[in-house]
Amino acid sequence: MNTSLSSSVPSQLETDCLVVVALDRTEKDKGEKDKPSPSVECPDAAVRDAAKDLIASGEVTGKMFETTLLHRPPGLKAKRLLLVGGGTAKAFSAADLRKLAGTAVRTLKGKNIRSFAFALPAGGLATPESVRALVEGAFIGNFDPGYYKSDRKDKDKDKEKDQIDDVTILVPSDAKPLEAALQSGRIVAESHNFTRDLVNEPSNRMTPTILAERARKMAAEVGLKCEVLGADKIRQLKMGAFWGVAQGSDEPPALIVLRYEPEGAAKDVHLGLVGKGVTFDTGGISIKPADGMEKMKYDMAGAATMIGTMRAIALLKPKVKVTAIILATENMPSGKAQKPGDVQIAMSGKSIEIINTDAEGRLILADGLSYARQMGCTHLVDAATLTGAVVVALGYVNAGIFASTDDMYDRFEKATEQTGEKMWRLPLDDEYKELIKSNIADMANAGSRYGGAIFAAMFLKEFAEDTPWIHLDIAGTAWMEENKPWIAKGPSGIALRSLVEFVKGWSV
Ligand code: BES
Ligand code: MN
Ligand code: ZN
Repeated sequence: MNTSLSSSVPSQLETDCLVVVALDRTEKDKGEKDKPSPSVECPDAAVRDAAKDLIASGEVTGKMFETTLLHRPPGLKAKRLLLVGGGTAKAFSAADLRKLAGTAVRTLKGKNIRSFAFALPAGGLATPESVRALVEGAFIGNFDPGYYKSDRKDKDKDKEKDQIDDVTILVPSDAKPLEAALQSGRIVAESHNFTRDLVNEPSNRMTPTILAERARKMAAEVGLKCEVLGADKIRQLKMGAFWGVAQGSDEPPALIVLRYEPEGAAKDVHLGLVGKGVTFDTGGISIKPADGMEKMKYDMAGAATMIGTMRAIALLKPKVKVTAIILATENMPSGKAQKPGDVQIAMSGKSIEIINTDAEGRLILADGLSYARQMGCTHLVDAATLTGAVVVALGYVNAGIFASTDDMYDRFEKATEQTGEKMWRLPLDDEYKELIKSNIADMANAGSRYGGAIFAAMFLKEFAEDTPWIHLDIAGTAWMEENKPWIAKGPSGIALRSLVEFVKGWSV
Protein backbone atom coordinates (compact mmCIF):
# COMPACT_ATOMS: atom_id res chain seq x y z
CA MET A 1 0.00 0.00 0.00
CA ASN A 2 1.32 3.42 -0.95
CA THR A 3 0.92 6.20 1.56
CA SER A 4 1.53 9.87 0.99
CA LEU A 5 0.91 13.26 2.52
CA SER A 6 -0.67 16.18 0.73
CA SER A 7 -1.67 19.68 1.71
CA SER A 8 -4.20 19.98 -1.12
CA VAL A 9 -7.52 21.57 -0.33
CA PRO A 10 -9.85 18.59 0.34
CA SER A 11 -12.67 19.83 -1.89
CA GLN A 12 -10.24 20.32 -4.80
CA LEU A 13 -8.66 16.87 -4.68
CA GLU A 14 -9.53 14.33 -7.34
CA THR A 15 -9.86 10.99 -5.59
CA ASP A 16 -12.11 7.93 -5.65
CA CYS A 17 -13.18 8.79 -2.15
CA LEU A 18 -12.60 11.58 0.31
CA VAL A 19 -12.85 10.37 3.91
CA VAL A 20 -13.69 12.77 6.73
CA VAL A 21 -14.44 12.29 10.40
CA ALA A 22 -17.89 13.05 11.83
CA LEU A 23 -18.02 13.74 15.55
CA ASP A 24 -20.91 14.11 17.93
CA ARG A 25 -20.73 17.60 19.41
CA THR A 26 -23.68 17.26 21.80
CA GLU A 27 -22.90 18.89 25.12
CA LYS A 28 -24.79 16.63 27.48
CA ASP A 29 -23.78 18.68 30.53
CA LYS A 30 -25.51 21.69 28.99
CA GLY A 31 -28.87 19.98 29.06
CA GLU A 32 -28.77 18.73 25.46
CA LYS A 33 -29.91 15.22 26.15
CA ASP A 34 -30.05 12.37 23.71
CA LYS A 35 -30.23 14.19 20.43
CA PRO A 36 -26.86 13.87 18.70
CA SER A 37 -25.39 16.94 17.12
CA PRO A 38 -23.09 15.58 14.44
CA SER A 39 -20.48 17.75 12.82
CA VAL A 40 -18.18 17.12 9.88
CA GLU A 41 -14.64 17.71 11.07
CA CYS A 42 -12.98 19.23 8.06
CA PRO A 43 -11.29 22.60 7.86
CA ASP A 44 -12.59 23.02 4.30
CA ALA A 45 -16.05 24.65 4.34
CA ALA A 46 -16.87 23.19 0.91
CA VAL A 47 -16.64 19.70 2.37
CA ARG A 48 -18.87 20.56 5.30
CA ASP A 49 -21.28 22.07 2.82
CA ALA A 50 -21.29 18.92 0.67
CA ALA A 51 -22.41 16.90 3.68
CA LYS A 52 -25.02 19.45 4.76
CA ASP A 53 -28.09 17.57 3.47
CA LEU A 54 -26.81 14.30 4.84
CA ILE A 55 -26.39 15.84 8.27
CA ALA A 56 -29.80 17.53 8.06
CA SER A 57 -31.40 14.18 7.21
CA GLY A 58 -30.58 12.88 10.68
CA GLU A 59 -28.97 9.81 9.16
CA VAL A 60 -25.57 10.67 10.58
CA THR A 61 -25.04 10.63 14.34
CA GLY A 62 -21.26 10.69 14.55
CA LYS A 63 -21.18 7.63 16.76
CA MET A 64 -18.03 5.54 16.72
CA PHE A 65 -17.45 3.54 13.49
CA GLU A 66 -20.65 4.69 11.81
CA THR A 67 -19.97 4.98 8.07
CA THR A 68 -22.04 6.94 5.55
CA LEU A 69 -21.13 7.01 1.89
CA LEU A 70 -22.25 9.79 -0.43
CA HIS A 71 -21.79 9.57 -4.21
CA ARG A 72 -21.00 12.64 -6.33
CA PRO A 73 -20.78 14.97 -3.36
CA PRO A 74 -21.87 18.44 -4.55
CA GLY A 75 -19.03 20.91 -5.00
CA LEU A 76 -16.24 18.35 -4.48
CA LYS A 77 -13.84 16.90 -7.01
CA ALA A 78 -13.89 13.56 -5.17
CA LYS A 79 -16.13 10.87 -6.62
CA ARG A 80 -17.42 9.93 -3.19
CA LEU A 81 -17.46 11.26 0.32
CA LEU A 82 -17.25 8.86 3.26
CA LEU A 83 -18.15 10.09 6.72
CA VAL A 84 -16.64 7.98 9.49
CA GLY A 85 -18.07 8.47 12.96
CA GLY A 86 -15.56 9.08 15.74
CA GLY A 87 -17.83 9.35 18.78
CA THR A 88 -18.12 12.39 21.01
CA ALA A 89 -15.83 15.30 20.21
CA LYS A 90 -14.77 15.64 23.84
CA ALA A 91 -13.40 12.11 24.05
CA PHE A 92 -11.80 12.07 20.60
CA SER A 93 -8.04 11.62 20.40
CA ALA A 94 -5.30 10.90 17.89
CA ALA A 95 -5.38 7.25 18.96
CA ASP A 96 -8.96 7.00 17.70
CA LEU A 97 -7.73 7.99 14.24
CA ARG A 98 -5.99 4.62 14.05
CA LYS A 99 -9.28 2.76 14.33
CA LEU A 100 -11.06 5.18 12.02
CA ALA A 101 -8.43 4.73 9.31
CA GLY A 102 -8.81 0.97 9.66
CA THR A 103 -12.58 1.35 9.43
CA ALA A 104 -12.30 3.47 6.26
CA VAL A 105 -10.02 0.89 4.66
CA ARG A 106 -12.26 -2.04 5.55
CA THR A 107 -15.39 -0.21 4.39
CA LEU A 108 -13.96 0.90 1.07
CA LYS A 109 -11.96 -2.15 0.02
CA GLY A 110 -15.18 -4.16 0.16
CA LYS A 111 -16.69 -1.77 -2.37
CA ASN A 112 -14.03 -2.27 -5.01
CA ILE A 113 -12.39 1.03 -4.20
CA ARG A 114 -8.60 1.00 -4.35
CA SER A 115 -7.55 4.45 -3.24
CA PHE A 116 -8.80 7.24 -1.04
CA ALA A 117 -7.77 10.43 0.72
CA PHE A 118 -8.26 10.87 4.45
CA ALA A 119 -8.62 14.47 5.60
CA LEU A 120 -7.19 15.07 9.06
CA PRO A 121 -9.76 16.74 11.29
CA ALA A 122 -9.13 20.40 12.07
CA GLY A 123 -8.04 21.57 15.47
CA GLY A 124 -4.80 20.37 16.95
CA LEU A 125 -4.80 17.01 15.20
CA ALA A 126 -2.33 17.74 12.41
CA THR A 127 0.43 16.22 14.51
CA PRO A 128 3.06 13.53 13.87
CA GLU A 129 1.13 11.34 16.31
CA SER A 130 -2.04 11.61 14.19
CA VAL A 131 -0.23 10.89 10.95
CA ARG A 132 1.40 7.82 12.47
CA ALA A 133 -1.92 6.61 13.84
CA LEU A 134 -3.60 7.04 10.44
CA VAL A 135 -0.91 5.13 8.57
CA GLU A 136 -0.83 2.35 11.15
CA GLY A 137 -4.61 2.07 11.16
CA ALA A 138 -4.81 1.90 7.38
CA PHE A 139 -2.32 -0.99 7.27
CA ILE A 140 -4.08 -2.78 10.12
CA GLY A 141 -7.37 -2.56 8.23
CA ASN A 142 -5.84 -3.72 4.96
CA PHE A 143 -4.67 -7.05 6.40
CA ASP A 144 -6.74 -9.99 5.18
CA PRO A 145 -6.28 -13.37 6.92
CA GLY A 146 -7.95 -15.42 4.15
CA TYR A 147 -4.59 -16.68 2.80
CA TYR A 148 -5.70 -20.03 1.53
CA LYS A 149 -8.99 -19.14 -0.05
CA SER A 150 -8.51 -20.19 -3.65
CA ASP A 151 -10.41 -17.18 -5.00
CA ARG A 152 -8.20 -14.80 -3.12
CA LYS A 153 -7.04 -12.26 -5.65
CA ASP A 154 -3.94 -10.80 -4.06
CA LYS A 155 -2.02 -14.08 -4.24
CA ASP A 156 -1.81 -13.58 -7.98
CA LYS A 157 0.40 -10.65 -8.87
CA ASP A 158 -1.38 -9.95 -12.16
CA LYS A 159 -4.87 -9.88 -10.80
CA GLU A 160 -6.56 -6.93 -9.24
CA LYS A 161 -6.24 -7.03 -5.46
CA ASP A 162 -9.00 -6.94 -2.94
CA GLN A 163 -7.30 -4.29 -0.92
CA ILE A 164 -6.48 -0.62 -0.78
CA ASP A 165 -3.45 0.38 -2.86
CA ASP A 166 -3.17 4.11 -2.13
CA VAL A 167 -3.91 6.28 0.84
CA THR A 168 -3.32 10.03 0.81
CA ILE A 169 -3.38 11.87 4.10
CA LEU A 170 -4.62 15.44 3.72
CA VAL A 171 -3.12 17.85 6.21
CA PRO A 172 -4.27 21.42 6.62
CA SER A 173 -0.74 22.84 6.75
CA ASP A 174 2.69 22.23 5.26
CA ALA A 175 3.15 18.46 4.89
CA LYS A 176 6.98 18.48 5.08
CA PRO A 177 7.34 18.38 8.87
CA LEU A 178 5.05 15.36 8.99
CA GLU A 179 6.97 13.31 6.42
CA ALA A 180 9.10 11.58 9.08
CA ALA A 181 5.99 10.54 10.99
CA LEU A 182 4.58 9.03 7.81
CA GLN A 183 7.75 7.00 7.27
CA SER A 184 8.01 5.74 10.84
CA GLY A 185 4.29 4.91 10.83
CA ARG A 186 4.86 2.82 7.72
CA ILE A 187 7.77 0.95 9.26
CA VAL A 188 5.80 0.05 12.37
CA ALA A 189 2.67 -0.81 10.38
CA GLU A 190 4.50 -3.07 7.94
CA SER A 191 6.31 -4.79 10.79
CA HIS A 192 2.97 -5.22 12.55
CA ASN A 193 1.46 -6.93 9.51
CA PHE A 194 4.63 -9.00 9.08
CA THR A 195 4.01 -10.35 12.60
CA ARG A 196 0.34 -10.97 11.84
CA ASP A 197 1.40 -12.85 8.70
CA LEU A 198 3.58 -15.20 10.74
CA VAL A 199 0.87 -15.80 13.34
CA ASN A 200 -1.80 -16.42 10.73
CA GLU A 201 -0.01 -19.37 9.14
CA PRO A 202 -1.17 -22.84 10.22
CA SER A 203 1.33 -25.09 11.99
CA ASN A 204 2.01 -27.28 8.95
CA ARG A 205 3.21 -24.15 7.17
CA MET A 206 4.89 -22.50 10.13
CA THR A 207 7.15 -25.07 11.75
CA PRO A 208 10.05 -23.94 13.96
CA THR A 209 12.32 -24.38 10.94
CA ILE A 210 10.12 -22.21 8.72
CA LEU A 211 9.80 -19.57 11.43
CA ALA A 212 13.60 -19.49 11.66
CA GLU A 213 13.86 -19.15 7.86
CA ARG A 214 11.40 -16.26 7.87
CA ALA A 215 13.37 -14.55 10.64
CA ARG A 216 16.63 -15.10 8.77
CA LYS A 217 15.24 -13.68 5.55
CA MET A 218 13.83 -10.63 7.30
CA ALA A 219 17.12 -10.11 9.16
CA ALA A 220 19.06 -10.13 5.89
CA GLU A 221 16.66 -7.59 4.39
CA VAL A 222 16.89 -5.08 7.22
CA GLY A 223 20.48 -5.66 8.34
CA LEU A 224 20.12 -7.61 11.58
CA LYS A 225 22.42 -10.40 12.67
CA CYS A 226 20.60 -13.70 12.83
CA GLU A 227 21.74 -16.99 14.26
CA VAL A 228 19.68 -20.17 14.42
CA LEU A 229 20.65 -22.92 16.86
CA GLY A 230 19.28 -26.44 16.42
CA ALA A 231 18.59 -29.42 18.65
CA ASP A 232 22.25 -30.35 19.23
CA LYS A 233 23.19 -26.88 20.32
CA ILE A 234 20.10 -26.61 22.53
CA ARG A 235 21.15 -29.79 24.34
CA GLN A 236 24.76 -28.64 24.49
CA LEU A 237 23.64 -25.43 26.19
CA LYS A 238 21.92 -27.66 28.75
CA MET A 239 18.53 -26.13 28.04
CA GLY A 240 16.77 -29.02 29.72
CA ALA A 241 13.45 -27.19 30.08
CA PHE A 242 13.30 -26.15 26.41
CA TRP A 243 14.46 -29.56 25.25
CA GLY A 244 11.94 -31.29 27.52
CA VAL A 245 9.20 -29.72 25.42
CA ALA A 246 10.95 -30.15 22.07
CA GLN A 247 11.92 -33.80 22.58
CA GLY A 248 8.41 -35.06 21.89
CA SER A 249 8.16 -33.66 18.40
CA ASP A 250 9.45 -34.92 15.05
CA GLU A 251 9.85 -31.30 13.95
CA PRO A 252 13.24 -30.01 15.10
CA PRO A 253 13.18 -27.00 17.45
CA ALA A 254 14.96 -23.73 16.71
CA LEU A 255 16.54 -21.16 18.98
CA ILE A 256 16.54 -17.98 16.95
CA VAL A 257 18.76 -15.09 17.98
CA LEU A 258 18.39 -11.69 16.33
CA ARG A 259 20.90 -9.00 17.17
CA TYR A 260 20.66 -5.24 16.77
CA GLU A 261 23.88 -3.47 17.77
CA PRO A 262 23.89 0.17 16.66
CA GLU A 263 26.92 2.38 16.96
CA GLY A 264 26.85 4.91 19.74
CA ALA A 265 24.47 2.95 21.98
CA ALA A 266 24.92 3.08 25.74
CA LYS A 267 27.35 0.45 27.00
CA ASP A 268 25.33 -0.44 30.08
CA VAL A 269 21.93 -1.11 28.50
CA HIS A 270 21.23 -4.26 26.55
CA LEU A 271 17.58 -5.13 26.07
CA GLY A 272 16.58 -8.76 25.71
CA LEU A 273 13.29 -9.65 24.01
CA VAL A 274 12.24 -13.24 24.61
CA GLY A 275 9.38 -14.78 22.63
CA LYS A 276 7.35 -17.98 23.05
CA GLY A 277 7.30 -19.72 19.69
CA VAL A 278 5.22 -22.86 20.16
CA THR A 279 4.17 -23.41 16.55
CA PHE A 280 1.53 -25.85 17.75
CA ASP A 281 0.46 -26.67 21.27
CA THR A 282 -1.39 -29.97 21.54
CA GLY A 283 -0.75 -29.97 25.28
CA GLY A 284 1.64 -32.91 24.91
CA ILE A 285 0.84 -36.00 27.00
CA SER A 286 -1.48 -33.79 29.10
CA ILE A 287 -3.33 -33.41 25.82
CA LYS A 288 -5.84 -30.63 25.21
CA PRO A 289 -9.50 -31.31 24.33
CA ALA A 290 -10.27 -31.32 20.59
CA ASP A 291 -12.64 -28.38 20.86
CA GLY A 292 -10.79 -25.27 19.78
CA MET A 293 -7.42 -27.00 19.58
CA GLU A 294 -6.95 -25.64 16.05
CA LYS A 295 -6.38 -22.23 17.60
CA MET A 296 -3.14 -23.42 19.16
CA LYS A 297 -1.40 -22.54 15.90
CA TYR A 298 -1.19 -19.03 17.33
CA ASP A 299 0.87 -20.18 20.31
CA MET A 300 3.89 -18.64 18.57
CA ALA A 301 2.43 -15.12 18.66
CA GLY A 302 4.96 -13.98 21.28
CA ALA A 303 7.80 -15.09 19.02
CA ALA A 304 6.26 -13.44 15.95
CA THR A 305 5.79 -10.24 17.94
CA MET A 306 9.45 -10.12 18.94
CA ILE A 307 10.59 -10.88 15.38
CA GLY A 308 8.37 -8.10 14.01
CA THR A 309 9.56 -5.74 16.73
CA MET A 310 13.18 -6.40 15.71
CA ARG A 311 12.27 -5.59 12.10
CA ALA A 312 10.83 -2.23 13.14
CA ILE A 313 13.82 -1.50 15.37
CA ALA A 314 16.32 -2.31 12.62
CA LEU A 315 14.60 0.23 10.36
CA LEU A 316 13.87 2.93 12.95
CA LYS A 317 17.43 2.71 14.31
CA PRO A 318 17.11 3.76 17.95
CA LYS A 319 20.47 3.95 19.73
CA VAL A 320 20.13 1.01 22.07
CA LYS A 321 21.42 -2.53 21.90
CA VAL A 322 18.65 -5.12 21.53
CA THR A 323 18.73 -8.90 21.23
CA ALA A 324 15.73 -11.09 20.55
CA ILE A 325 15.70 -14.70 21.68
CA ILE A 326 13.02 -16.86 20.15
CA LEU A 327 12.25 -20.33 21.44
CA ALA A 328 10.52 -22.24 18.65
CA THR A 329 9.15 -25.76 19.04
CA GLU A 330 6.02 -27.83 18.79
CA ASN A 331 4.43 -29.35 21.90
CA MET A 332 3.48 -32.88 20.88
CA PRO A 333 2.58 -36.19 22.51
CA SER A 334 4.69 -39.12 21.32
CA GLY A 335 6.79 -42.00 22.56
CA LYS A 336 9.62 -39.54 23.05
CA ALA A 337 7.54 -36.88 24.79
CA GLN A 338 8.11 -35.82 28.38
CA LYS A 339 5.55 -37.11 30.84
CA PRO A 340 3.86 -35.71 33.95
CA GLY A 341 6.13 -36.36 36.90
CA ASP A 342 9.31 -36.04 34.88
CA VAL A 343 11.99 -33.75 36.25
CA GLN A 344 13.95 -31.48 33.95
CA ILE A 345 17.04 -29.46 34.78
CA ALA A 346 16.86 -26.00 33.27
CA MET A 347 19.86 -24.16 31.84
CA SER A 348 20.18 -22.15 35.06
CA GLY A 349 20.63 -25.42 36.99
CA LYS A 350 17.22 -25.26 38.66
CA SER A 351 15.16 -28.44 38.65
CA ILE A 352 11.53 -28.50 37.50
CA GLU A 353 8.90 -31.13 38.14
CA ILE A 354 6.59 -31.42 35.15
CA ILE A 355 3.09 -31.62 36.61
CA ASN A 356 1.37 -30.80 33.34
CA THR A 357 3.03 -31.02 29.93
CA ASP A 358 0.56 -28.42 28.67
CA ALA A 359 2.33 -25.81 30.81
CA GLU A 360 5.11 -25.81 28.21
CA GLY A 361 5.45 -22.10 27.48
CA ARG A 362 7.00 -21.30 30.85
CA LEU A 363 9.49 -24.13 30.36
CA ILE A 364 10.86 -22.87 27.07
CA LEU A 365 10.83 -19.25 28.26
CA ALA A 366 12.72 -20.24 31.40
CA ASP A 367 15.72 -21.25 29.31
CA GLY A 368 15.21 -18.27 26.99
CA LEU A 369 15.46 -15.89 29.93
CA SER A 370 18.58 -17.64 31.26
CA TYR A 371 20.17 -17.50 27.84
CA ALA A 372 19.39 -13.79 27.51
CA ARG A 373 21.04 -13.19 30.87
CA GLN A 374 24.05 -15.22 29.83
CA MET A 375 24.33 -13.07 26.72
CA GLY A 376 24.55 -10.01 28.92
CA CYS A 377 21.05 -8.59 28.61
CA THR A 378 20.49 -6.03 31.34
CA HIS A 379 16.71 -5.70 30.97
CA LEU A 380 14.30 -8.37 29.80
CA VAL A 381 10.86 -8.45 28.24
CA ASP A 382 9.06 -11.61 27.29
CA ALA A 383 5.85 -12.00 25.32
CA ALA A 384 3.86 -15.20 25.31
CA THR A 385 0.42 -16.69 24.78
CA LEU A 386 1.06 -18.23 28.14
CA THR A 387 -2.12 -19.00 30.05
CA GLY A 388 -5.82 -19.60 29.65
CA ALA A 389 -6.01 -18.08 33.12
CA VAL A 390 -5.12 -14.61 31.85
CA VAL A 391 -8.17 -14.85 29.59
CA VAL A 392 -10.30 -15.75 32.62
CA ALA A 393 -8.87 -12.74 34.47
CA LEU A 394 -8.88 -10.07 31.76
CA GLY A 395 -10.96 -11.42 28.89
CA TYR A 396 -10.07 -10.49 25.35
CA VAL A 397 -9.60 -6.80 26.11
CA ASN A 398 -6.44 -6.35 28.18
CA ALA A 399 -3.18 -8.22 27.92
CA GLY A 400 -1.67 -9.14 31.28
CA ILE A 401 1.52 -7.31 32.20
CA PHE A 402 3.84 -8.32 35.03
CA ALA A 403 6.86 -6.29 36.02
CA SER A 404 9.61 -7.07 38.49
CA THR A 405 10.36 -3.37 39.05
CA ASP A 406 8.22 -0.25 39.02
CA ASP A 407 10.70 1.47 36.74
CA MET A 408 10.22 -1.17 34.06
CA TYR A 409 6.47 -0.96 34.49
CA ASP A 410 6.49 2.84 34.25
CA ARG A 411 8.48 2.71 31.05
CA PHE A 412 6.15 0.18 29.53
CA GLU A 413 3.05 2.00 30.68
CA LYS A 414 4.35 5.16 29.02
CA ALA A 415 4.69 3.17 25.80
CA THR A 416 1.16 1.75 25.97
CA GLU A 417 -0.23 5.22 26.67
CA GLN A 418 1.21 6.31 23.35
CA THR A 419 0.04 3.31 21.35
CA GLY A 420 -3.37 2.82 22.97
CA GLU A 421 -2.72 -0.91 23.48
CA LYS A 422 -4.55 -2.12 26.57
CA MET A 423 -2.59 -3.94 29.26
CA TRP A 424 -3.39 -4.48 32.91
CA ARG A 425 -0.78 -5.02 35.58
CA LEU A 426 -1.03 -8.20 37.65
CA PRO A 427 0.87 -8.86 40.89
CA LEU A 428 4.06 -10.75 41.67
CA ASP A 429 3.96 -10.69 45.47
CA ASP A 430 6.31 -13.02 47.32
CA GLU A 431 3.27 -14.75 48.88
CA TYR A 432 2.54 -16.31 45.49
CA LYS A 433 5.83 -18.15 45.60
CA GLU A 434 4.02 -20.87 47.54
CA LEU A 435 2.21 -21.78 44.34
CA ILE A 436 5.19 -23.16 42.49
CA LYS A 437 6.52 -25.46 45.23
CA SER A 438 7.33 -29.07 44.34
CA ASN A 439 7.93 -32.10 46.54
CA ILE A 440 10.76 -33.43 44.49
CA ALA A 441 12.33 -30.47 42.66
CA ASP A 442 13.06 -26.76 43.03
CA MET A 443 9.70 -25.95 41.52
CA ALA A 444 6.71 -27.41 39.71
CA ASN A 445 5.54 -26.19 36.33
CA ALA A 446 1.85 -26.26 37.27
CA GLY A 447 -0.40 -26.53 40.29
CA SER A 448 -3.58 -24.94 41.56
CA ARG A 449 -6.10 -23.65 39.01
CA TYR A 450 -6.39 -20.41 40.93
CA GLY A 451 -4.17 -17.52 40.01
CA GLY A 452 -2.90 -19.41 36.96
CA ALA A 453 -1.52 -16.41 35.12
CA ILE A 454 0.34 -15.34 38.26
CA PHE A 455 1.66 -18.86 38.76
CA ALA A 456 3.23 -18.78 35.32
CA ALA A 457 4.74 -15.35 35.93
CA MET A 458 6.15 -16.38 39.33
CA PHE A 459 7.70 -19.38 37.61
CA LEU A 460 9.36 -17.17 34.98
CA LYS A 461 10.59 -14.79 37.66
CA GLU A 462 12.79 -17.58 39.00
CA PHE A 463 14.69 -17.43 35.71
CA ALA A 464 14.70 -13.67 35.19
CA GLU A 465 16.32 -13.65 38.64
CA ASP A 466 17.51 -10.15 39.57
CA THR A 467 17.45 -8.78 36.03
CA PRO A 468 14.69 -6.15 35.64
CA TRP A 469 11.99 -7.91 33.68
CA ILE A 470 8.56 -7.57 32.16
CA HIS A 471 6.29 -10.42 31.18
CA LEU A 472 3.41 -9.94 28.74
CA ASP A 473 0.74 -12.64 28.74
CA ILE A 474 -1.04 -12.15 25.41
CA ALA A 475 -3.08 -15.39 25.34
CA GLY A 476 -6.39 -13.48 25.29
CA THR A 477 -5.37 -10.64 23.00
CA ALA A 478 -3.15 -12.07 20.27
CA TRP A 479 -6.16 -13.35 18.32
CA MET A 480 -9.25 -11.29 17.47
CA GLU A 481 -12.22 -13.55 18.08
CA GLU A 482 -14.50 -11.49 15.83
CA ASN A 483 -14.32 -9.06 12.97
CA LYS A 484 -14.28 -5.45 14.14
CA PRO A 485 -14.89 -2.39 11.97
CA TRP A 486 -11.14 -1.61 11.94
CA ILE A 487 -9.56 -5.06 12.06
CA ALA A 488 -10.31 -8.52 10.71
CA LYS A 489 -10.87 -11.58 12.87
CA GLY A 490 -7.53 -13.32 13.28
CA PRO A 491 -4.05 -12.31 14.49
CA SER A 492 -4.03 -8.91 16.19
CA GLY A 493 -0.32 -8.20 16.41
CA ILE A 494 -0.83 -7.02 20.02
CA ALA A 495 2.17 -5.62 21.89
CA LEU A 496 4.40 -4.96 18.90
CA ARG A 497 3.70 -1.25 18.74
CA SER A 498 4.19 -0.83 22.49
CA LEU A 499 7.39 -2.87 22.42
CA VAL A 500 8.77 -0.62 19.69
CA GLU A 501 7.91 2.48 21.74
CA PHE A 502 9.39 0.87 24.86
CA VAL A 503 12.66 0.14 23.06
CA LYS A 504 12.79 3.66 21.59
CA GLY A 505 12.44 4.97 25.14
CA TRP A 506 15.93 3.59 25.91
CA SER A 507 17.62 5.24 22.94
CA VAL A 508 20.45 7.57 23.96
N1 BES B 1 -0.80 -22.02 24.97
C1 BES B 1 -1.51 -22.25 26.17
C2 BES B 1 -2.22 -21.01 26.68
C3 BES B 1 -3.32 -20.43 25.83
C4 BES B 1 -4.63 -20.64 26.17
C5 BES B 1 -3.02 -19.63 24.75
C6 BES B 1 -5.63 -20.06 25.41
C7 BES B 1 -4.02 -19.07 24.00
C8 BES B 1 -5.33 -19.29 24.33
C9 BES B 1 -0.55 -22.73 27.25
O1 BES B 1 0.55 -23.43 26.82
C10 BES B 1 -1.32 -23.64 28.13
O2 BES B 1 -1.73 -24.67 27.67
N2 BES B 1 -1.52 -23.26 29.37
C11 BES B 1 -2.25 -24.05 30.30
C12 BES B 1 -1.47 -24.13 31.58
C13 BES B 1 -2.01 -25.08 32.60
C14 BES B 1 -1.87 -26.50 32.11
C15 BES B 1 -1.29 -24.90 33.90
C16 BES B 1 -3.58 -23.36 30.53
O3 BES B 1 -3.61 -22.14 30.58
O4 BES B 1 -4.59 -24.06 30.60
MN1 MN C 1 0.14 -25.51 26.59
ZN1 ZN D 1 1.16 -23.08 24.90
